[in-house]
Amino acid sequence: MTLIDQSYGTPADAHPALPLPAPPALPYPPPVPTDEERALLLDAFHEVATDPDQTFVLGRRTAELERRLRGRAQVADVIACGSGTGGLILALRALGVGPGDEVIVPAFGAEPLGSSVLAVGAIPVFADVEPDTMVLDVADTERRITPRTRAIVPAHTFQSMADMPALVELAARRRLALVEDAAIAMGASLHGRPAGSWADLGLYSFFPVKPFGMAGEGAVLLSDDPELSRTVRLLRDHGQDGVRRGIHHEQGIDSRFDEVQAAYQLARLGSLDGRLARRRAVVDHYDEALAPLRSGGLVVPDQGPDTSPCLYVYAVQTEYRDELAAHLAAHGVGTRVYYPLPLNRLPQFAPYAEHGPARPGADQASARHLALPLHQHMTLAQARRVTDAIRSFFAGPGRS
Ligand SMILES: Cc1ncc(COP(=O)(O)O)c(C=O)c1O
Repeated sequence: MTLIDQSYGTPADAHPALPLPAPPALPYPPPVPTDEERALLLDAFHEVATDPDQTFVLGRRTAELERRLRGRAQVADVIACGSGTGGLILALRALGVGPGDEVIVPAFGAEPLGSSVLAVGAIPVFADVEPDTMVLDVADTERRITPRTRAIVPAHTFQSMADMPALVELAARRRLALVEDAAIAMGASLHGRPAGSWADLGLYSFFPVKPFGMAGEGAVLLSDDPELSRTVRLLRDHGQDGVRRGIHHEQGIDSRFDEVQAAYQLARLGSLDGRLARRRAVVDHYDEALAPLRSGGLVVPDQGPDTSPCLYVYAVQTEYRDELAAHLAAHGVGTRVYYPLPLNRLPQFAPYAEHGPARPGADQASARHLALPLHQHMTLAQARRVTDAIRSFFAGPGRS
């Protein structure tokens, strides 16, 4: 399989005799942050640095961000933590997952889905994904449940949300914990219910490129269960309760939220919906313009009724993935392959790789997916340039 290297390097990488190729006119990933956001970041630094409070983590700005995100996500509590990966570890710990337990995660997805399970001493079990949407296959998940299974961790992937109603039903029927990895899905919803609010614990990551990405590491967990919220709050700060310093109620970890980032996120929260709406316009254009190419073999997930898609990454699938990427590059459009291998084929998960039946959906998704440019600064004219180039590719010989 050919892997596509979309990095352009930097002047420091370049051999003096070899000029760098010109980057595509519509690169992937987008340039972030904007000048306006840089100014907000500098203001946030100044505000926190000069605050007589001199609290740099888990201070009043973090508490305010948590409070303001509660209403937005329609959950009882939001708990800020140090990263999405830290959030997954905190969620599994709070749910009592530990050594000897099995946790079912999608075989196609972000590496922390598996590594967070290993981090709590449990065993990752990789279930297959649906061939079109690339999210957890619920029937295959059920097939892999054993007496040792403690939790299921579906992840929303590219523009599709996992089938949360079916997974909530499955988890309740088999008495399993459910963690909704909505790291990429802020702004998405299913039947009017926001991504992140469906399970025992939900997760949004604020890693820079995410829909509400910031200028550093951070994430939030979402919960309606006061006991789980309390445990996560303890665990994120070495088991301390935030009231009495130095009293450690249990062994936790360091997964705290930064006050500068909290100030930055608070300053940008009001414009979040506008940024999401601009991404949504691009997604809607892609959906509409690419739908006719389904008959030519391009896989464009159908989101179904009453669904608001995830707005982080828009990926299509085709057996001509590498040729399509090359064609788009020739038309000045950058693309990206996110997960060239399913998780069960990564070396760190080799001991758990062969458990259970094959995962053809994950293998196909890894071999065929291609992400198109998507960000809040994109214009519809740029989106049209992408879809025109894709259409011209599929109009080529032998492709329609
Ligand atoms: C689905 C998913 N889960 C978890 C993570 C981990 O989040 P973070 O990078 O904030 O640690 C990521 C990051 O890419 C992700 O895409």
